[in-house]
Amino acid sequence: MNGEPLVIAIDGPSGSGKSSVARGVARALGLAYLDTGAMYRAATWWCRERGVPLDDEVAVAREVAALPLVMGLDPAAPTVTVAGIDVGEAIRSTEVSQAVSAVATNLDARAELGARQRELIDTERTATSFSGGRGVVAEGRDITTVVAPDAPVRVLLTASAQARLARRALEVHGTDSAAALQATRDQVLRRDADDSTVVEFHQAAPGVVTVDSTDLDLDGTVAAVLEVVADLTGVRP
Ligand code: DC
Repeated sequence: MNGEPLVIAIDGPSGSGKSSVARGVARALGLAYLDTGAMYRAATWWCRERGVPLDDEVAVAREVAALPLVMGLDPAAPTVTVAGIDVGEAIRSTEVSQAVSAVATNLDARAELGARQRELIDTERTATSFSGGRGVVAEGRDITTVVAPDAPVRVLLTASAQARLARRALEVHGTDSAAALQATRDQVLRRDADDSTVVEFHQAAPGVVTVDSTDLDLDGTVAAVLEVVADLTGVRP
């Protein structure tokens, strides 16, 4: 690797494989890993814990402004801690998954979490934190466009709706039977439809490279993204 700290921004819809791919890329290159969706989930968990109605936009924004959140950026073992509590598992619950769009569509909450994401990315670029200033892979919905539009590598990870549904069904229900697909439909498609009202993550912005993972497995997708990184920066594992 050359000496410049590297920022890799990856966006994509639910079930595109973003998180696993971003982690794999971070591990391959020895970079930190930032899961920004986990920050929206942590904020949602916290509001529920505090009894704040998620449709009260002002109250939600106030809670998020004071959210005592610590993100651990080691791609081998990422952590999410709120007020000293490890919420890594709790934020993946169905309750949080179904409620998180209320926070993700709250513009004040987005501004706050986006500012924290920029700070975390900046710290990874410049300081001796997790990866010793070598850089970070940040993934979400608006990283390539809003949070880190100047990142030297920006990727939109897509997959057909059918592939995304099947992946989520396998993850959540352990099968991609017709019943499991139906049960997953709301979580994947409805949530993306809600989230699309505030951020565009189905179309690549200018300068963002699209990687279609429909016919690729995890290793194949990681390899495809590493190829983009090598093309754009010369950096290889
Ligand atoms: O990727 P995920 O399912 O963990 O994301 C959780 C929610 O947060 C989802 O509703 C999309 C939203 N999100 C967002 O709006 N912007 C981001 N940068 C990351 C996630």
